[in-house]
Amino acid sequence: MTITRASAPSNIALIKYWGKRDIPLNLPLTSSLSVSLTSMLSHATIQPIDAEADLWDIQGDPAKSLRVLSLFRRLTDDRRPLSIRITNDFPSGAGLASSASSMAALTRALGLFFGLGDDVEREPRLASIARQGSGSAVRSLLPGYVLWDAGTDPTGRDSLPTRLFPASHLPMALLVCVVDRKVKPISSSKAMEISRQTSPLYGPFHQRNPLDIAAACRAIEAQDLPTLGRLAEDNCLAMHKVMWESTPPVDYFQEGTHLVIDTVRRLRDEGFFCFFSIDAGPNVKVFCRPEDQALLAERLKLLPGIALLQDAVCSALPPSTSEAGG
Ligand code: PMV
Repeated sequence: MTITRASAPSNIALIKYWGKRDIPLNLPLTSSLSVSLTSMLSHATIQPIDAEADLWDIQGDPAKSLRVLSLFRRLTDDRRPLSIRITNDFPSGAGLASSASSMAALTRALGLFFGLGDDVEREPRLASIARQGSGSAVRSLLPGYVLWDAGTDPTGRDSLPTRLFPASHLPMALLVCVVDRKVKPISSSKAMEISRQTSPLYGPFHQRNPLDIAAACRAIEAQDLPTLGRLAEDNCLAMHKVMWESTPPVDYFQEGTHLVIDTVRRLRDEGFFCFFSIDAGPNVKVFCRPEDQALLAERLKLLPGIALLQDAVCSALPPSTSEAGG
């Protein structure tokens, strides 16, 4: 029996999306711009089995994986029972985009298994399937600096990721400050809906999106890390303000989150270059120049209760494999 394996990286949005224009299709209201990471990976293994039902061994939300599998089955009409395993190299559900990498890894592996291939640039339907598992998974289908264009088609056909720049164009290192490994108390989809219904800042956040995307693209093109850092931090805080102003307020920050933010600002005052970004969870991603990573890690390691993961922008996706096995 063939064993198919594929992996995909986590990604961090520098310009974020926070809101959907179609909930069942999981279509974003705005575009977003991210970096895919080198070592925070999810791995999916698929194998047909001689059994009545599928065998699942996964971390995270099973509903998302089931949805991805059922979309492939609907497309291919191939309903062979499968053994499906997904593992993450890092904590799941803690704002470290484990659903993005796991749904992207699953989509790539099932794509290969069902004959569509694992490359979204050749087969755009992979983006549509990954998106219906987890929105941000679309960006984890590509390496380097990635733009997920929200698109305008009601079917989502044009809601696709593109490679903007390779990692080598603007090398960045990353220090992930893990404040809390627990699964977040409220899912991003739920929190987005609360924001849409109640936050006065929801509209203004979306209005600024095209300008933020354009400015970030220019900063990356010009290899201007300080400008990119300022834009990313402003955009991240604007997204969290949308949530803080909703009713009930949604606040993913914890004491440790504030501690890391204060430290990043202090390090900048001392002349180091670094900036932060935070998603739907308490953990803080600190971006810096690769040559400063070790020194900054020494400083951030001193913070009480914070665990550090070191990473960098990924230059290529890990290769997938399909081989005969037992
Ligand atoms: O698509 P989801 O459910 O992973 O939501 C992503 C939301 C943020 O991470 C906060 C923003 C983003 O663009 O990644």
